[in-house]
Amino acid sequence: MPILGLGTWQLTKDTAGTVEAALRLGYRMIDTAEDYGTQPGIGEAIKRNATARDRIYVVTKVEETDDAYEATRRYLDELQLDYADLMLIHRPPPSGAGEELWRGLIRAKKDGLARDIGVSNYAIDLIEILIRATGETPTVNQIEWSPFGHSDKMLTYCQQRQIVIQAYSPLTRTKRLDDNTLGALAAKYGKTPAQMLIRWNLQRGTVPLPKANRREHLQENFQIFDFEISRDDMASINGLNEGYSSLGTLPYD
Ligand SMILES: NC(=O)c1ccc[n+]([C@@H]2O[C@H](COP(=O)([O-])OP(=O)(O)OC[C@H]3O[C@@H](n4cnc5c(N)ncnc54)[C@H](OP(=O)(O)O)[C@@H]3O)[C@@H](O)[C@H]2O)c1
Repeated sequence: MPILGLGTWQLTKDTAGTVEAALRLGYRMIDTAEDYGTQPGIGEAIKRNATARDRIYVVTKVEETDDAYEATRRYLDELQLDYADLMLIHRPPPSGAGEELWRGLIRAKKDGLARDIGVSNYAIDLIEILIRATGETPTVNQIEWSPFGHSDKMLTYCQQRQIVIQAYSPLTRTKRLDDNTLGALAAKYGKTPAQMLIRWNLQRGTVPLPKANRREHLQENFQIFDFEISRDDMASINGLNEGYSSLGTLPYD
């Protein structure tokens, strides 16, 4: 799995053109969901671009009301792909942990429709229910995750279970890019606040999925492999945690 991906929520203006530009810049993971409306454009970009299919990691999600197996087939049709690299349960259903959804994804994986399967917006206890019910551990938990809202408890749990945390809204939907501490550290490294947030994820072993419509943002967000945040500065950034969520509440404690 690539260590950085492109988010595509609200990337509907010119999805195919933007995703193609991202592939040309070197992005190798694209995150989508049926309700983003970007699956057809992503499929188009993958077709048009010269990058081999097996070098691109496509993530999509089934909804809590879906029949997971049938929905996987439907979303693959929209993407014009034979398989997804990662199929997630978008969020847990209102009651229970989504064991039926999980069984549907296990079947999709067995049948080669998904290489990896995982969950999104799951708390630890719900992940444990899925594992106990089926013996299958999710490859990924995709959750809102930034220095302003993250959890050592979740990180330790996922490390122990070898579950990758994918960080959504890693740029806080721009809401906290003007934070003073972040700004001062960005100036110290000659980087932007957005680049600091992305790099912080890489150094924590979590996988950020920044979304960018604008070409200059796409480029900026990929220029994060040429510097390293020191241990002390990582501690300062970790310390910005206040359980912040740009969506409302974090789906974990
Ligand atoms: N699993 C889930 O339930 C879930 C929920 C939410 C999101 N997600 C996924 O995670 C992805 C990312 O999250 P998100 O879209 O909520 O928010 P985000 O990536 O935190 O923020 C996106 C915003 O940041 C701006 N931006 C991008 N790069 C920038 C830069 N270098 N400097 C300043 N601003 C910059 C973008 O502007 P422009 O677009 O104008 O460039 C856009 O307004 C989503 O697109 C989606 O794929 C998943």
